[in-house]
Amino acid sequence: MQGMTNDFTESLLKFCLLLLYAVCAVVMSACGPAEYKTGQECCPMCVTGYFVKRDCTEFRSTSCLPCPNSTYTDVPNGLSKCFSCSVCDSSVLLKVKRACSSISDTLCEPLEGHYCTDPIQDGCRGAVEHTKCSPGQYINQTGTAYTDAVCAECVGDTYSNGSFASCRPHTRCESLGQYTGKPGTHTEDTYCENRRRHHMLLLAVLPLACASLVVLVVRRKP
Ligand SMILES: *[C@@H]1O[C@H](CO)[C@@H](O)[C@H](O)[C@H]1NC(C)=O
Repeated sequence: MQGMTNDFTESLLKFCLLLLYAVCAVVMSACGPAEYKTGQECCPMCVTGYFVKRDCTEFRSTSCLPCPNSTYTDVPNGLSKCFSCSVCDSSVLLKVKRACSSISDTLCEPLEGHYCTDPIQDGCRGAVEHTKCSPGQYINQTGTAYTDAVCAECVGDTYSNGSFASCRPHTRCESLGQYTGKPGTHTEDTYCENRRRHHMLLLAVLPLACASLVVLVVRRKP
């Protein structure tokens, strides 16, 4: 019983020593939070918007330079060059939301009439066009930069050409003092016509035509 306890204590002690050794090794080889490692040395990092031109030595600190145009670093770093700014390409249906600066990458957003299918943080990496509603449907929910449009069907005596925000009631020709030429559908409004005018025209033309005919017939006679 005594031997077993001793064995256990000894194992525990060994484990603790190993752990201590491991922790010491990590701590001694690791650099501070604002430092980066180069060979065996720890050098102070360059601040955001800068990159390392020359590592530090025993005698002088790290030498840093600002990121050139169209490049950036958005964290303190030990990088030998800055990251390239992303491009918001109209060929992938994106435009610039916020231009690139030395301390932050470009942010892109969908072109007008498109919505984002690949969002990242505040930006977007890919977009597609909003669904186009068909004739007979109205736009129930307008598409946004992050949601597609939602279409819904016209019902009853209403119509929409697919671009209306709601279906419009068919014109009632009677209320205009006119006649229904073609009844409305869900895609088209009623076609009204003023038949009275057609009758008037006919009344004016018919006697003229008759008169012309009579004149012709009379002239033909020898
Ligand atoms: C629908 O009608 C409106 C005017 O009422 C017009 O501006 C639009 O271009 C039409 N849309 C389609 C898809 O025909």
